[in-house]
Amino acid sequence: DDPQVLSDAILAWYDVHARDMPWRVPPQARRAGQTPDPYRIWLSEVMLQQTTVATVKSYFERFTARWPTVRDLAAAQDADVMAEWAGLGYYARARNLLKCARTVDQDYGGTFPADHAELLKLPGIGPYTAAAIASIAFDLRHTVLDGNVERVMARLHDIHVPLPASKPILMEKADALTPVDRPGDYAQAVMDLGATICTPKSPACGICPWRDPCAARAEGTAADLPKKTPK
Ligand code: ADE
Repeated sequence: DDPQVLSDAILAWYDVHARDMPWRVPPQARRAGQTPDPYRIWLSEVMLQQTTVATVKSYFERFTARWPTVRDLAAAQDADVMAEWAGLGYYARARNLLKCARTVDQDYGGTFPADHAELLKLPGIGPYTAAAIASIAFDLRHTVLDGNVERVMARLHDIHVPLPASKPILMEKADALTPVDRPGDYAQAVMDLGATICTPKSPACGICPWRDPCAARAEGTAADLPKKTPK
């Protein structure tokens, strides 16, 4: 299938079904020219690394109410940030969070760099988070590959190679579908599709914007994918 036909279909779906999240700029507002705050995108992505959206929401609201900008966070007391983080777990993430905020404050004038390679240099920001910030906050054409996206790609292309060996193949497929126009909405659309329709068990293929092009649906293998190499 033509990549543009596929990305157009999921973007049209996202225009109607985008989930509401406190850090998100909805597609209609983005069209009207509103841009996301890179600080809020960064903070949400770090929180979401090992924690569910439902849990992250209230933590995100408390953090941004108390520290509205990255410079406010950079000036915070370590103990105050650790106390607000309590319950999210993985405390190394909270330490890196502060380190990153202070680096952005001191070395970047309080502005997150709009560049994947520069983002990668910041403490606690790996390839996934750099791609998420570059695409969602800055609408740069970078591809986010998380568990949701892996599952969606494995099914769309009926890939039976087990994870993690399949990762490079899935990344290539995901990259080939990422549009030049609206890459940020596209990244969030695939995540939302994976979270709400292309779910691990009993996917709702009948209402999926990719039901026609989906190779796993045609083969009846969707619920069995992605395969995983036993640990
Ligand atoms: N999980 C991680 N980042 C996300 C995002 N931006 N939207 C939805 N789920 C996510």
